[in-house]
Amino acid sequence: MRVGESNHIVYLGNMKITRRTVSFLQRLFACALVSASSLALADDGLDIVVYGATGKVGTHVVQEALERGHNVTAVSRRPAQITAQHVNLSAVKGDLLDETSVADIVTGADVVIVSVRGVIGNSDKPESALQYMAAEMLVDVLHKLGPDAPRLLHVGGSGTLEVEPGVTFAAKLPTILLPRGLEIEILGQMLALEFLGKVDDVNWTYVTPPKNFTNGPRTAEFRIGGAVALKDGRGRTRLSRADFAVALIDEAERAAYPRQRISVAY
Ligand SMILES: NC(=O)c1ccc[n+]([C@@H]2O[C@H](COP(=O)([O-])OP(=O)(O)OC[C@H]3O[C@@H](n4cnc5c(N)ncnc54)[C@H](OP(=O)(O)O)[C@@H]3O)[C@@H](O)[C@H]2O)c1
Repeated sequence: MRVGESNHIVYLGNMKITRRTVSFLQRLFACALVSASSLALADDGLDIVVYGATGKVGTHVVQEALERGHNVTAVSRRPAQITAQHVNLSAVKGDLLDETSVADIVTGADVVIVSVRGVIGNSDKPESALQYMAAEMLVDVLHKLGPDAPRLLHVGGSGTLEVEPGVTFAAKLPTILLPRGLEIEILGQMLALEFLGKVDDVNWTYVTPPKNFTNGPRTAEFRIGGAVALKDGRGRTRLSRADFAVALIDEAERAAYPRQRISVAY
């Protein structure tokens, strides 16, 4: 094959083409390479379902997952609320109280992240906290999916953390000052942890935030602990929501803590 050039003409084998055509082909080839690499990124990413995608924590989780090249299914009862636009983002309508909807949405995903809150009905029982009902619903659905089921990352509550040996933050709360709904949610998160602790046929991780969530920046610097509340040098248990999202997507990618409760804080 002859490859050479003369003034404005380039020879490729017996083919004679102009420099302008060569430049066009080079640009076309470069575009094809860029598209191919974006496709490869999308293909390599995890398929992550986020329940609570419209929430204060969930919006950070969706953003963090997208920035790391994952494919995100953001679930809301009113998906029109999800205004973010991204080629790897789908906003879908879903309700955690509807088993058929949950099964349709999570089937085929790699990871399901649940970051929701609320109290269902007028009951005063912790069993009516959505955080607990969501854990029960997902375990039921994922159990039925068998070995192909996605992993479950449950966003937990700091009430479950020990602030003194053997004493949880929830046990120390001045309940008389708490709105009843919040107390039910805190107790619901304790129930969810107890419930998940007994589940051995679904791959779950209960990711516990610290007592104080902040709107601070993403630093990607934090510690991972267990049942005891992590305190910073000034005795505070805190973390930005953006950094909590980093910890969640780290766990989505690494699956480092199967069937465990972890906690995250500075
Ligand atoms: N220090 C702490 O321990 C601490 C502090 C704050 C939060 N948290 C935990 O963090 C998690 C998220 O809290 P957040 O502050 O981000 O809550 P949030 O802003 O109030 O958002 C709640 C989310 O729940 C979703 N949701 C409610 N009912 C639903 C249903 N039936 N089906 C599906 N989704 C439903 C809502 O989605 P749609 O309305 O769009 O459907 C919304 O996105 C909770 O688990 C909470 O307990 C812990």
